[in-house]
Parts: sequence; C-alpha cells; structure tokens
Amino acid sequence: MAAPLNIETPADAAALCRDVLDEAGKAVVGKREALELVLTGILASGHVLLEDLPGLGKTLLARTFAAVLGLDFARVQFTPDMLPADLTGAAVYDPRTSEVVFRPGPVFTQLLLADEINRTPPKTQAALLEAMEEQQVSADGESRPLPRPFIVLATDNPIEYEGTYPLPEAQLDRFALRMRLGYLSAELEGEMIGRRLSRGAAPPELRALAGPREVLAMRDCVEKVHVDEGIVRYAVAVSAATRAHAKITVGASSRATLGVVQLARARALLADRDYVLPEDVKAVAVPALAHRLVLQPEMWVRQVTGEDLVAEVLDEVPVPRGIAAPNGSTAANGSTAANGSTAANGSTAAGRAT
Ligand SMILES: Nc1ncnc2c1ncn2[C@@H]1O[C@H](COP(=O)(O)OP(=O)(O)OP(=O)(O)O)[C@@H](O)[C@H]1O
Ligand SMILES: [Mg+2]
Repeated sequence: MAAPLNIETPADAAALCRDVLDEAGKAVVGKREALELVLTGILASGHVLLEDLPGLGKTLLARTFAAVLGLDFARVQFTPDMLPADLTGAAVYDPRTSEVVFRPGPVFTQLLLADEINRTPPKTQAALLEAMEEQQVSADGESRPLPRPFIVLATDNPIEYEGTYPLPEAQLDRFALRMRLGYLSAELEGEMIGRRLSRGAAPPELRALAGPREVLAMRDCVEKVHVDEGIVRYAVAVSAATRAHAKITVGASSRATLGVVQLARARALLADRDYVLPEDVKAVAVPALAHRLVLQPEMWVRQVTGEDLVAEVLDEVPVPRGIAAPNGSTAANGSTAANGSTAANGSTAAGRAT
C-alpha cells in the first residue's frame, strides 16, 4: 500500500470498504453479498466459517481479501495426522547456537485460511480455536501474542462425513459467522469463465488498498457506531427467544448476542450509517446465530435447520420502532434523519409494525 490512510470516522471507513469490495469484485465474480458479509465479520473482529462444497471460490475469496486488505496470508490444510504444534509452532534445537528456539507455526499470520477444519482431530481443532479466542498461542510453556489483526477464515466441507470430526457446538460458538457461497448463476458463471479466457492463466492483479493499520483503524470506527437502547433490547430478545424455543435444546449464548450487536454495527458502517437500525440486526442474525444452536434431535429428521428457526424467531420478536439517528448524526444520503422517520436508505426505521 502507498501512504497510510487517515481513517477516523465511520464515513472514512465506509469509503475504504466500498473500494475494498470493488477491488475484491475484480477477482471474485458475482459474490458481492458474500464479500460484504465476510468484510462485516472482519470489521466486527470476528472469524468466519465458510461451509460449502469444493470449487466454489472459498480459497479465492480468502486470498483476495488478504491481497486487497494488505495482510499477511497463510493457508493451512487440516489433515487427520496434524498435531497442534504443526499449527502453533514448537521449540526446536538450533545446532548452530546450541540453543532451543521457538519456531512459530503458520498460525502466526494476519489472515489465516484454515481449510477443512473438520478433517483434523479435536486436539488440533482446539489449538486453532484457542488461538482464535485468546489471540495468542500457548506453546512450550509460554504465551505468545498473535499478529494484529488476526483473522481466521475457516472452511469445512458439509458433504463428507467419513473420516471427519464435526466441530462441537462449543467450538462453533467461536465463529462470528457461518456462511455459504453457493453456486453462481449461469450468467455469472459464464462471466467468470469469460474473464479467465480473456485474462489468460495469470491470476487477476489486485491492488492492496489497506494494510494491518487500516484494518485496525476501521475496527476502531465500528466502536463509534451508535447503538440505541432499543436495539440492545431487540438483540437480547432475539437471543432469549432462541433459548425459549420448543425446537431448540441450546439457544444463543451471550457471546452470540454480543456478536450480533458488533456485526450489526459493522453492517451499519458498511451502509455508511453511524447508528444501528433493526434491519442491521435482522440481516446478521441468521449467519451469526444459526450455527450456534443445538436443535431437538427430531429436527434433523424433519430437515429443520438452525437457519429456519432463527428466521422464525425474527418473524416473532417485535421489531423496535422509531430508532433514530443520534443527535447530530447524518444519514447516509446526507440528510439528518428526523424523528427517526426515515432510515439511511429511505425505508422506515420502524420495520414491520407488530
Ligand atoms: N465467484 C468466482 N469468481 C471467480 N472465480 C471463481 C469463482 N468461484 C470459483 N472460481 C474459480 O474456481 C476455481 C476454484 O476456486 P477455489 O479454489 O477458490 O475453490 P474452493 O472453494 O477453495 O475449493 P476447495 O474446497 O476444493 O478448496 C478457481 O480457479 C477460482 O478462480
Ligand atoms: Mg480451497
């Protein structure tokens, strides 16, 4: 990246995010929404689980973000014989100096693509999940901080059950988001092939528009996005409703509620707003909560998913009305939101009346 950017306000961060998404879109065809969601997770200081079939662009997406955000990148393919030290690093004897030195493992990076985490046994999964939660690694009797930012994009393959170790719910809770990329439409798939044919074999050239410092500055801007008390009550009510739901054995954790609020702030920032609306909470609730729920066993047979149940809860919990921009704040279209009547994109802030 060239000169460091000055990112002080949510509006500064939003402008940079738009450029980042446009640049990423040069490599990743037709996945703007998925790119926005991943960036929302990154801004909210979360880690993201990409659950999808092979060959749908997961590796491409991770590499693209690393390139455009100007972050160090490492990819680890998780395998059944992998040990925690293969990830975290270990103390090794250096014959030249006759000293034991710590050789850091691939986890010491800024953006880690953890590929197929369900292929490795629980011990190695736990080492990764500890690093994600603690932002540090305990190895060789010492704690070592990871670089900042430290972002994990993990993948797991939903079709192979044999020889895999599904992540326990307690560990899934460490992911801020779980999402799928899904297939491209025929038209977009054609466009992807067309771009590849006209470009040749070389990967698309991407500009680094930020660096670690800018990513951290953008996260600081998320902290400046206002959260009304009504929004807090709404997020808490949504989590509470998952806990009370008859088809759910274990509902959303407190970590999950906090995650929803931070993701909603990040989403507001991406929409160039410095305050959260109920629609932000609604938009992030499914990818933020569905993977953390434990459903009643018969739901599996009836093919009811966590996604279905979060959507059901969102339909039932009353949406707060009249959430307004805080005093002095401006809506995205430049006009000050008056009396909470209009939201940034012109839709009513009140959401569906209940
Ligand atoms: N949306 C897309 N835009 C551009 N190229 C794409 C897209 N989706 C897939 N591709 C291309 O398809 C190929 C496979 O993508 P990639 O390696 O990222 O898949 P993956 O999901 O990581 O697969 P695996 O699970 O096997 O690792 C790459 O050449 C990639 O460039
Ligand atoms: Mg891949």
